[in-house]
Amino acid sequence: MLKLTSRDLTRTPVEALVIPVCQDRDIHTDPVIAALIEKAAGQSGFKGAPESEMVYYQAPEIRARRIVLLGLGTFDKLDAEVLRRFAGKAVKKCIGWDLSETMIAVPAPSKLKLKAETVLSAVQEGAYLGNHQFERYKKSKHACLKRILFYMDKKAAGKLRRLSRRLESICRATVLAREWVNTAPNDKRPHQLAASIVETSEKAGLSAEVMNKKQLKRKKFGATLAVAAGSDSKPQLIVLKHRPEGAKKNIALVGKGVTFDAGGINLKPTGSIELMKMDMAGAAAVAGAMIGIAGLGLDLKVTAIIPIVENMVSGSATRPGDIVTAYNGKTVEIGNTDAEGRLILIDALSWAIETLKPDAIIDLATLTGACVVALGEKIAGVFSPDDKLTGAIVEAGRRTDERCWPMPLPDDYKEQLKSDFADFINVGPTRYGGALTAALFLKEFVGNTRWAHIDIAGPAYSKKETAYCPAGGTGFGVRLLCELMRRL
Ligand code: BES
Ligand code: ZN
Ligand code: ZN
Repeated sequence: MLKLTSRDLTRTPVEALVIPVCQDRDIHTDPVIAALIEKAAGQSGFKGAPESEMVYYQAPEIRARRIVLLGLGTFDKLDAEVLRRFAGKAVKKCIGWDLSETMIAVPAPSKLKLKAETVLSAVQEGAYLGNHQFERYKKSKHACLKRILFYMDKKAAGKLRRLSRRLESICRATVLAREWVNTAPNDKRPHQLAASIVETSEKAGLSAEVMNKKQLKRKKFGATLAVAAGSDSKPQLIVLKHRPEGAKKNIALVGKGVTFDAGGINLKPTGSIELMKMDMAGAAAVAGAMIGIAGLGLDLKVTAIIPIVENMVSGSATRPGDIVTAYNGKTVEIGNTDAEGRLILIDALSWAIETLKPDAIIDLATLTGACVVALGEKIAGVFSPDDKLTGAIVEAGRRTDERCWPMPLPDDYKEQLKSDFADFINVGPTRYGGALTAALFLKEFVGNTRWAHIDIAGPAYSKKETAYCPAGGTGFGVRLLCELMRRL
C-alpha cells in the first residue's frame, strides 16, 4: 500500500498530490514543487500556517488532478509528530473526496533537522494509520485509499527503499490492536478474542498456545479464576512465542485482557461502565506488538502472556471479602472486585517468571482510573524499579509519540496492601495514589526480575478522532513495544 517513488512529477498521473508547506522555511528541493507552492501563494496568499489548507485544480505543468497544500506551521516546531499528523490529515482528506490513491510530497530531509529515515517513517506512519477506518458495524462504508505514493528525491530515497515494508508491518499490527479494542464486547467474549488473537498470530508466523479453564484450574491460577467466576464465558490464557534462531535476549510481555469490565459485584456506575470493552487494550497491544515483532524478524526471543477474562456480575461472581490463592501460593483478600486487572496480572507475571526466566518482563494494562487522573488521557505511566528500563521505555515513546512518564513505587505505600486475613488485599483503603498502589501490588509478584509496568488506561482509547486515528482504540503500545524491542 505504501510506495516510494522518484518518478518525474510532470509525467506521473495521480488523483491528488499533497504538499506540506512550512510557514517560514522552504522544505522542498524539487523545483516543480517549489513552483506549485509559489503559485498557491500568488493565487490566495497561502503561507503554510498550522491547520491551513488550499486546493487547486489548474496545474497543467503536472499530471496530478488536484494539488492540495497543507500548512505545517513554523520550522522550530517541525518534528516527526507534526509530519505524522500532516500525513494522516492528507489521507483523510483524500478519503473524504472518495479518491482511491494519493501522492504525498515528502519534505527534503536535507532541509530539516531530522534524519532521512525519521522523516520518511513519520510521513508513512501517519499516512498508513490515517487510512484506517473501523466500519465493521456500519452499513454505509467509506472506501479507504488503495495506494499511497510518497514522492522523494532519488538520492534521498535510495537508502530508504526497505523502510516501507518495515513500517507496514508495524502499522498493520497497530491497526489490528485498534480493531480488537473497537470490537463490541458481545463479539469478543474471552473464547472469541482468544481465537482471533491465536489465528492472526499464527498467520504472522508466531507459535500460539491457549490454556483453557481446566488447565488454569490444574495449574492453580487462582486469582485469574476468581475474576472470571462471574462470567459464563471461560477464562483463557494465550502464550505467543517469537523464537528466531540463535537469539540470546529473552523478553516477556504481559497484557491485561478484560473483554468487559463491569466491575463485578462492585458494579461500575453509569458514566464509568460504558467504555469498558476497552479493558483488553493491554492484551491487544501486546498481541499486536508480537505480530509486529514477527514481521520485523527481530533478533530476540519474545514471549507474550495474555490472560483473557470477562469481569461480570452473577450468582457465581467473586465477592468482596473472598480470599483467593494466586499462582505463586500467596493469598489475596478481594477488597474490591473492580480491581480485577491486577489479579489476572499477578498470576500471569509469576507464571511467566517461573517458566520462562526472562531477562526482563513488561506488562501493559488499562489498570487504573487513578493513572488517568494523574497524567490525563494521552500519557501512560511507567512503573519500574529499574531506571535503565524506564529510560528505554520513555525514549521509545518519545520516538513514536506514545508518551510515557516515570511514576514512583514508594516502599512505604506498600502498607496499604496489608490485609488482616490474607497475605495481601487487592486495594488500598483510599483512592489516593491508586495507580501507585496498583503497581506496588504487581511488584510483590515479580521478585528480582527486571520488570516494568505501563498503565495505559488513559491513552489506550480516544473518544474523539485524531489526525491519524479514528475515535476508539488507539493501538497505543504497539509501535512503542516494537521500538523498545529494537533497542533492548
Ligand atoms: N479497568 C479499570 C481501570 C480503568 C478506568 C481503565 C478507566 C480505563 C479507564 C480497572 O479495572 C478498575 O476498575 N480500577 C479501579 C480500581 C479501584 C477499584 C481500586 C479504578 O481505577 O477505579
Ligand atoms: Zn475494574
Ligand atoms: Zn479493569
